[in-house]
Amino acid sequence: MGRAGTGRARAVRAGDEEKGKMTVEYVHGYSARETRRLSDQADTLAALLHEGTAYPAGSRVLEVGCGVGAQTVHLVANSPGARITAVDVDVDSLERARARVADRHPGARVEWHRADLYDLPFPNGSFDHLFVCFVLEHLPEPERALRRLRRLLRPGGTATVIEGDHGSVVFHPDSPHARAVIDCQVRLQAAAGGDALIGRRLQPLLTAAGYGDVAVRPRTVYADRTLPETVDGFVRDTFIPLFEGVGDEAVLRGLATEEDWRRGIVDLYRTAEDGGTFHYTFFKATAVNPPLRTAR
Ligand SMILES: C[S@@+](CC[C@H](N)C(=O)[O-])C[C@H]1O[C@@H](n2cnc3c(N)ncnc32)[C@H](O)[C@@H]1O
Repeated sequence: MGRAGTGRARAVRAGDEEKGKMTVEYVHGYSARETRRLSDQADTLAALLHEGTAYPAGSRVLEVGCGVGAQTVHLVANSPGARITAVDVDVDSLERARARVADRHPGARVEWHRADLYDLPFPNGSFDHLFVCFVLEHLPEPERALRRLRRLLRPGGTATVIEGDHGSVVFHPDSPHARAVIDCQVRLQAAAGGDALIGRRLQPLLTAAGYGDVAVRPRTVYADRTLPETVDGFVRDTFIPLFEGVGDEAVLRGLATEEDWRRGIVDLYRTAEDGGTFHYTFFKATAVNPPLRTAR
């Protein structure tokens, strides 16, 4: 779950082209605040999202769209013997990812590559496993991306894909302003070519991209005052900051007035107070690159 972006890999910041730097055109860029949010999100949700994902020693794992390494550290922790290759289009994020893994898992061997996921520098069949988390939601062509990535898996190799879906948000106390804020984010992300409601589409997307044995399961986050770590780690530090960051953009585009936006954010915070409740569902898919048919 991340901020809206078009997913188009190209140089977008002043001077980046000269430095040969490729990045993705995110509405809010790769700010320190977003880095912190991605880390909080990954750490808070690690047990929920990574449960069941562990790769055998020696297996070749490709993480695509690793960002600042917020998920990579959990992949390394759960699969210490796996040979992980992590890819992102943004060079600054990769540097942070490298530092994060070195800090948390000194001695871990991860290969880092700056590359566009549509055009990765690996031969077909190079990997046993693929891991993609909160990336498809930013891509205008998620099915094409999944198809391209499937070719990098050996026949019988597995894919794990995790995405959120803002349509799954349920909270108390209800507030039309808070709901409008979430809706604005969905529209901003759609305008940037992404889909903040992509979780519900994972099964058909993976199937259309040629994967077999597709299994999608919901991973639900629920928070109320009896679960203070989830209230802080997810509702306050992960979910609401996602929206706080796009307020200016929403107002600029005429999707909300400043006052309505402010009210919506205040009401979202009320769901994290005593008496408030909050629910969000992530979707975790596993799938297989079909094995080659043997001639009889
Ligand atoms: C919301 S972040 C998620 C990062 C990480 N997977 C996580 O869960 O914390 C999405 C990442 O996908 C990367 N990305 C987007 N489009 C890409 C592309 N075409 N090729 C490679 N990486 C891409 C972005 O640079 C960004 O780091």
